[in-house]
Amino acid sequence: MESKHFVFFLSVVVLFFAAAEVSAAVDRQRSNELGSYRPIKNLTEPRVIEVGNFAVSEHNKEAGTKLLFVKVVKGDFQVVSGLNFRLVISAKDGVDLGNYEAVVYKKPWQSYKRLISFKKV
Ligand SMILES: *[C@@H]1O[C@H](CO)[C@@H](O)[C@H](O)[C@H]1NC(C)=O
Repeated sequence: MESKHFVFFLSVVVLFFAAAEVSAAVDRQRSNELGSYRPIKNLTEPRVIEVGNFAVSEHNKEAGTKLLFVKVVKGDFQVVSGLNFRLVISAKDGVDLGNYEAVVYKKPWQSYKRLISFKKV
């Protein structure tokens, strides 16, 4: 990616997290209106990979499985009082490669993450 595009992308990410923080403050004053899901443009961005990895390892803990994270195939996010990430994750179950849809809730500026759902697609 051209560096000016990357800078633009970073600005969008920063603005987006700032907006999420503002929206959290607004939520304390009035009822929460859910935004619609918007696509994540760069699926290899470390923050996205981290969420994907978290979803797989958390699911392994909860379900006693041994899935191995391969990559994020598709993803979108929704601004709530934090962020909901909805990712399609490619993962290995032994030798079988499969796609899984995971929803992870993340609070901005904090390391708090929670796996909302995880299912094979
Ligand atoms: C996506 O993000 C990765 C890691 O930050 C970067 O190396 C890569 O160039 C980006 N790709 C695109 C298409 O923006």
